[in-house]
Amino acid sequence: MKLLVLKENASNENRIALSLEVIAKYKKVGVEVFVESKAGEKSMISDELLKESGANIVTDISQIISEIDIIISVQRTDFEYSKVKKGAIFIALLNPYFQKDKIELLAKADISAFALELLPRTSRAQSMDVLSSQSNLAGYRAVIDAVYEMQKAVPMMMTAAGTISAAKFLILGAGVAGLQAIATAKRLGAIVSAFDVRAAAKEQVQSLGAKFVEVKSEEKAQGVYAQEMSEEYKKLQEQLLKDVIKNQDVVISTALIPGRKAPTLITEEMVKMMKPGSIIIDTAAINGGNCELTEVEKEVEVNGVRIFGYANFPSRVAADTSKLLAKNIFNFLELLINKEKNSLSINLEDDLVKATLVSDNGIVLFNK
Ligand SMILES: NC(=O)c1ccc[n+]([C@@H]2O[C@H](COP(=O)([O-])OP(=O)(O)OC[C@H]3O[C@@H](n4cnc5c(N)ncnc54)[C@H](O)[C@@H]3O)[C@@H](O)[C@H]2O)c1
Repeated sequence: MKLLVLKENASNENRIALSLEVIAKYKKVGVEVFVESKAGEKSMISDELLKESGANIVTDISQIISEIDIIISVQRTDFEYSKVKKGAIFIALLNPYFQKDKIELLAKADISAFALELLPRTSRAQSMDVLSSQSNLAGYRAVIDAVYEMQKAVPMMMTAAGTISAAKFLILGAGVAGLQAIATAKRLGAIVSAFDVRAAAKEQVQSLGAKFVEVKSEEKAQGVYAQEMSEEYKKLQEQLLKDVIKNQDVVISTALIPGRKAPTLITEEMVKMMKPGSIIIDTAAINGGNCELTEVEKEVEVNGVRIFGYANFPSRVAADTSKLLAKNIFNFLELLINKEKNSLSINLEDDLVKATLVSDNGIVLFNK
């Protein structure tokens, strides 16, 4: 079986869907790896290193694409569909809720496509869980971005010239990214508070040594993912955040609802209540933003408060996120490889395969 790794073409995408370590693993399961030339350049993997590790470098993928069984990418979806071999599969982060048009094109080209974001959050899927591996580092990077931008030190420092107070960080949304943001800010010596709508988040926040700020309401988000909350709840949440936000040096917002625009948590009024020099890092920018004033890939300044809405936080730590993503994809692909027959097989009885398959036999299978 032959696998092709595409070079990403989005300007803010530095990752590659492969790592040097994983090339040998592919070989072991009978998969020969081809990589589009310069695909690893932005994540510090040269063509030479890829070659040394056993991959074949391809300068013009149109020359080889008709022989390829498996195509993988981080988020690129455009390649020469007409030349793709019948029965070939494509695996990537397809952003299925917001890019249905791209799934339709893949289905039209009769490509069996898998969107890894749709993996259930079960223990069997953990080693393939791209959302977790990427969000974890995104949360870390958001804190580093804030620290880089602020003019204040993070830990409390007692010096002969006086005492510097520790910086206050508020983390909104305590999923994978938020929890890592809490842990990173704590490690740097910040005083950290966090908020989430899921009841389970309270214990997780507290176990990291942060304070959980809580909306006084019986209403809680149910299940693994959050839902849109009632208007009444939102009002209570707004009042709570107004009280808390004005004392913060940094707000890192990570709140998401799958398939929906990110919830608006920070209003313009709240931004104006913050001290000049405060920083807001909105990791939900690309999903509509948690702050009313966030602009994607821009820095917005209001009364000395600066809001950063980078579109792709995992890409800002591409050397490491690529490694984890590459391993996630390899682990997932193992579900599709029949080792005895040295061929691909899509087993729809496997819940992980079924949940992620978004197009097959010319049909779009994802209809949410
Ligand atoms: N294998 C596993 O068991 C596994 C692995 C990772 C995550 N998970 C679970 O998956 C779920 C989703 O995690 P995620 O990081 O992908 O979440 P996510 O990226 O979808 O959302 C980030 C966080 O934002 C929160 N949020 C949504 N609306 C909000 C609002 N209005 N105010 C404040 N916070 C809000 C969510 O509750 C979530 O914690 C969590 O329950 C997590 O514990 C399970």
